[in-house]
Amino acid sequence: MRRLHLIAFLIKKAFLGNLDGLPNLGSFCHVYSITPCELTKQFVPKDELDDILERRAKEFSQHQLRMKTNAKILIAKANCPLQYPTGFRVTPLQKSLIPGLALQTQKRRVTTKKREVYKVSLSVKSGVLSVENVLDGQQVDGQGQSELNISSSNLTQLNDLLSRVTYTSTIYHIYTIDMVHFSFEDHEAMFPIIIRRPTVPVLYDPGKDINSQVTIITKTFLRYKELKVLIQSIREFYPNIKIIVADDSLKPEDVSGNNIEHYIMPPAQGWFAGRNLALSQLTTKYFLWVDDDFEFLKETRIENFVEIMEAIPDIDVVGGEVSGNQFQFILEYDEGTEKEGGCLRRIKGRFHQPLSGYNGCFFVDGVTNFFLGRTEAVRRIGFDPFLKRVGHTEFFIDALGKLLVVSCKGLSIGHQTHREQNQYDSYRTQDKLEEERKLAHHFFKNYLKCIKY
Ligand SMILES: *[C@@H]1O[C@H](CO)[C@@H](O)[C@H](O)[C@H]1NC(C)=O
Ligand SMILES: *[C@@H]1O[C@H](CO)[C@@H](O)[C@H](O)[C@H]1NC(C)=O
Repeated sequence: MRRLHLIAFLIKKAFLGNLDGLPNLGSFCHVYSITPCELTKQFVPKDELDDILERRAKEFSQHQLRMKTNAKILIAKANCPLQYPTGFRVTPLQKSLIPGLALQTQKRRVTTKKREVYKVSLSVKSGVLSVENVLDGQQVDGQGQSELNISSSNLTQLNDLLSRVTYTSTIYHIYTIDMVHFSFEDHEAMFPIIIRRPTVPVLYDPGKDINSQVTIITKTFLRYKELKVLIQSIREFYPNIKIIVADDSLKPEDVSGNNIEHYIMPPAQGWFAGRNLALSQLTTKYFLWVDDDFEFLKETRIENFVEIMEAIPDIDVVGGEVSGNQFQFILEYDEGTEKEGGCLRRIKGRFHQPLSGYNGCFFVDGVTNFFLGRTEAVRRIGFDPFLKRVGHTEFFIDALGKLLVVSCKGLSIGHQTHREQNQYDSYRTQDKLEEERKLAHHFFKNYLKCIKY
């Protein structure tokens, strides 16, 4: 079942490029002119712009090649007598039978001349074709080459030969596509062969209870008082669960206790660097992200998150609510033009669709700072350490279309009441310069022409 899904996905990816497959309807940055987007380009230093544009264009075209996002759409012609598989997978450099090849044609009507011979041609680009067990007298030209002609005066025999056609890729690649051209008289069909090196599963043994399934991770900076309250509140409900603390405080203090891992970083490395460090140390299938000033409540049940993820293994992130605030959003993304890049808009409070069977849960693109994540999936995205002082939506921007995200009402945690913290706030508050640096970063990294939070 999963393999079928994968193949369907790969074909979609190869054929449509952008997964939604919708035509480009123009940039909404122009459509919604009442709340204008920030044009990211203006934050790139003027004297560097030309160089950056050149480098960005190069990186983007390499990215497209890697992701195979610029593949063309194929149209299957009507009434084609050629039968062929739409997308199957082979291992690089290994011979595989192409399933389902056949010619299904009627005898010509009396008015036209009867066929003397049926001839089909097959050709590929980065591999070779052959027919297994060809007997003497059977008409197969081009064995072991990239173009194969098969002919026979007997349709049954021709189809028998077609059922034994094999493909072997000759150019090594772990994940690419070759196109087969298959033709008979005026009819031509094209279909993809997915060349994919099989991948090895990476599994996490969930063990038998919540302690072996989930690690709680947080990042702290100059907030030991809050961190202590958080840890105490966790221990009240989960006495043994592992807690990972990444700490980039200026003068690190001791944080110890049963099953706590305290990682001290160079000072003020920043928000995402800390999240990444904590993420890198996980050994459990899931992690629960909390801020250092949160507080576990009676109703903070990690089990409820796990239950959803276990029931629906496609989901990568389940977010809850912090002091009753769900903070969920969707991202509206328009890929824009190849030259200028896309536009992105964050829309708070919206969702894509309710998650059926789970009241109060919705598919979204981003959630609050309180979520259960699938370790392996979130690691593939990571937290960009470029973002030092702020950064939250940015993770979900990077994860767009790569992580399946759900937000649920009723999975809640408390927020400790805030106290004045001049030093902390001065670090945490994003100044104008920082904001501009971030926008210039989006310009290159996310190939964005404009962005609206
Ligand atoms: C196959 O047939 C085509 C057209 O009939 C011809 O141009 C080509 O050379 C043939 N290829 C081989 C390998 O015989
Ligand atoms: C075509 O080939 C099949 C199988 O070899 C055979 O049974 C059939 O009689 C043949 N038909 C003709 C018209 O020769």
